[in-house]
Amino acid sequence: MKFFIDTANLSHIKEAADLGILDGVTTNPSLMAKEGIKGNDNILRHYAEICSIVDGDVSAEVLSTDFDSMVAEGKTLAAIHPNIVVKVPMIKDGIKAIKWFADNGIRTNCTLVFSAGQAILAAKAGASYVSPFIGRIDDSNWDGIELIAQIAHIYNVQGFETEILAASIRNPLHIVRSAEAGAHVCTCPLASILGMLKHPLTDLGLAQFLEDAKKM
Ligand code: G3P
Repeated sequence: MKFFIDTANLSHIKEAADLGILDGVTTNPSLMAKEGIKGNDNILRHYAEICSIVDGDVSAEVLSTDFDSMVAEGKTLAAIHPNIVVKVPMIKDGIKAIKWFADNGIRTNCTLVFSAGQAILAAKAGASYVSPFIGRIDDSNWDGIELIAQIAHIYNVQGFETEILAASIRNPLHIVRSAEAGAHVCTCPLASILGMLKHPLTDLGLAQFLEDAKKM
């Protein structure tokens, strides 16, 4: 399973990249706004900077919602760097745009996916990645991990090549359960990645080993 970091924060991206296990980055307009990135030139520069830190796919989201504007925006984003993946919302014009991008050699990530039907449409259109938002599904009293498993089953049975990118990850257990359910990628906040390191028995065991090492 690939690990992406879900942030536009450069120091978080650098810290995750330094671990040596980072395969890519996802962003969205909310994450970009959180970092205070404003204006078209600054947005494009920020994506370029992310691409210079991480050798892997970087999802950059279109801000428009009609086919022509999404295609124009996507072309500009894809021109920043070969690792840019154009992130497109799961709407009618989004599906048309994903198909256009697939036919023209531009990779896409279909975002805001909350059902298996949406995931089938994204795969049919030729999305490179589909992003089910598992944390937000859990928030609405459904089971986000069940959706990952359902999509994984359908893609397997049907031979779809779209990769399942588990998004809206909120904790380390979401990552473990997404891996179990068949996600190809997890995109996570830095805290969830670092949270996977933790176990009290590891800390206790290491403290004991270090204590005993003094007697060696
Ligand atoms: O990858 C999608 C993600 O950024 C949304 O996360 O926590 O806002 O549901 P969240």
